[in-house]
Parts: sequence; structure tokens; C-alpha cells
Amino acid sequence: MKKKNFSKKVSIVDVGPRDGLQNEKKSISLDARFQFIKLLAEAGVKRIESGAFVSSKWVPQMSGSEELCERIYEAQRKGVLPKNLVWPCLVPNERGMEVALKSHVKEIAIFASASETFSKRNINCTIAESLDRYARVITMAKKNKIRVRAYLSMCFGCPFEGEISEAVVVRLVKKLISMGAYEVSIGDTIGVANPEQVRRLVTKLIAAVGEGPLAMHFHDTRGTALANILASLNLGIRTFDSSLGGLGGCPYAPSATGNVATEDVIYMLHGMGFETGVDLTKLIAINKVMAKELRHELPSLVGKAGLPKLIP
Ligand code: HMG
Ligand code: MG
Repeated sequence: MKKKNFSKKVSIVDVGPRDGLQNEKKSISLDARFQFIKLLAEAGVKRIESGAFVSSKWVPQMSGSEELCERIYEAQRKGVLPKNLVWPCLVPNERGMEVALKSHVKEIAIFASASETFSKRNINCTIAESLDRYARVITMAKKNKIRVRAYLSMCFGCPFEGEISEAVVVRLVKKLISMGAYEVSIGDTIGVANPEQVRRLVTKLIAAVGEGPLAMHFHDTRGTALANILASLNLGIRTFDSSLGGLGGCPYAPSATGNVATEDVIYMLHGMGFETGVDLTKLIAINKVMAKELRHELPSLVGKAGLPKLIP
């Protein structure tokens, strides 16, 4: 039997500048998007999903991602952003990949779905069609030495189809890896999962592909995200997506409210002795900056409560 992963190091992928901002009513300026990424990098986040090369008719909040990438690239070149910062962008098809190739990205994220209905609603094609498209996208990426991350959405339940078969999820994760994705992020897109369900599915996924290529992407719609992260940690998963402030959701998944907040995840992980390299005090400060920019309070509980203080 394979040895369990006891590593104390956890990798955080902050998806706020993409998954977070795509769900905001109001688009924010490129300056503010760049500033958001820069602040996260200064807080020690090493993987930041920065934009999406999708249709601006579908997701206007992500338009201008090419220009944003140019700025990130220049900032990295001049040493304003760390050289080791990874800043993937979503790519839905070859058209998006062509833009990616002009945008200096070193990593892209493709996004498939375990629900047929959501696939059609989100990217206007069936799951099988999306896999064909992504095979072509991956070929283009590999030719240009660009790493490919993959998402699989609706792994724990779908607002259109209800229950999602675990066997379908396992099959699709194996397929995405065999196609060339180095990591698959398992999405609880509408925040319906519970820790027992997570234990069941993740155990099957680890048996199929090992824990190395798995990341978990929980939304905290019903308050179960941290419990689900704990269930995943106990099984050896060490990569989690989260979003500063708990921003986020998907415009094509009704009721998909915020991703689990990076502040809340880091607070729990550090308290449990895990290392993330992220500075929680700085994250709490970014929460205030983004709340001002977006003109509303952000859902993160640690963002609201701050660090525990002794009362004299
Ligand atoms: P479509 O309408 O089927 O595309 O959309 P089409 O090929 O028929 O083209 C229609 C028009 O879009 C054409 O322009 C194309 O050029 C253009 P027109 O001739 O009408 O002027 N077009 C594009 N423009 C910019 N970038 C492109 C592109 N492709 C075509 N890449 C498409 C298909 C995939 C484009 C559309 O459905 C789309 O953009 N969908 C993206 C939706 C999205 O971003 N959703 C949110 C992310 S998913 C998510 O949040 C879940 C996740 O967070 C994980 C989780 O939580 O589980 C990842
Ligand atoms: Mg999401």
C-alpha cells in the first residue's frame, strides 16, 4: 500500500483575481486587478489565477486579461513581482489559446465539467466536445512549453442535474491527466459537499491517480468548505484553491457564491502547524483594500474578525 502524505507544506492557489472578480456585478479597472495580484504576491501567495481568455460577451469582468498579462509579465521582468510567481489564465478553446500564446503566460487552466448541463451552459458544448477542444488546446500549449492545469466543475453536485456520479468524476480526472494536465482541481462549484462525501470521492480519486495531481476547489456556500478541506488534508491532499475575502462564484452556476476565503484557510492551516509561506496579517489588510475597491464587505470570517487579540 502507498505511504500516506504527511507533509506539512500546503500549496495555495488564490483564484480571487479570476474566480472572485468574474462574479462581481461591477468590473474593476486593470490597475485595480493588477494591484490585487501584486498585493497577493507580496503576501507570499505563489500561485495566483489572474485572468481568463474567454468571450467578453460571456464574462465581461475578465475582458482586458491580455493587457493585464502584459503588465504582470513586465512587472516580473523588472523584479516588481517575484520571478517564481505562477499566474495562470483560463482558456476555453483554441481561440483563447491563441490569445494566451501572445500573452506571455507560462501556465493556463482548462475547465471541464462533470455535469453535461453545466458544460453546455458554461462553455456551450458537451463534455465530449470540450475534451476534444482541450486536446487541441493542450497540443498548442505543450508545443510552446506552457503548463496546463485543469478544472473539473460540479464534482459534488449540480444545480441542473443534482447528484453527480463518482465514477464519472474519476473517469474525467484520469482523462484530463492522460491528456497532459499536470494537476486537476476538483470543484465543488456550488458549495454542496460535506466531509463524508469528500472522503468518499477523494479516496477513489487518490486510488486512481495518487494525491500528487489533485487540488481541491471548495466554495463555502453552505459553510462546509473548511470541514471539506480538513477531510481532504487527512487523506493527504496538499493543494487548495481559495479566494481572498471569499470572493467568487460562477455567473453560469446559479447559487455559486464565494470560494472559501484564503484568510480563513490560512488561519486554520497555520493553527494546525501547516506551512504555506503566506502572511495572514497581509491578507487581512488586502481584504480591506478590496472591500473598498469593490464597495462591499467581503464574506471572509477571519477578514472580519481579524487575528485573535488578548484583551488587557
Ligand atoms: P460560443 O458562443 O459557443 O463561441 O462561446 P463561438 O465559437 O460560437 O463564438 C462566438 C463568438 O465568441 C465569436 O465572436 C468568437 O470569435 C468569440 P463574434 O463572431 O460573435 O464576434 N469567441 C471568443 N472570444 C474571446 N475569447 C474566446 C472566444 N471564443 C470564441 N476564447 C465560449 C464559447 C467558450 C467562448 C463561451 O462559452 C465562453 O467564453 N465561456 C466562458 C464562461 C466562463 O468563463 N465561465 C466562468 C469560468 S468556469 C468556473 O467558474 C468554474 C471554475 O471556477 C471551477 C469551479 O468552481 O468548479 C473554473
Ligand atoms: Mg470556482
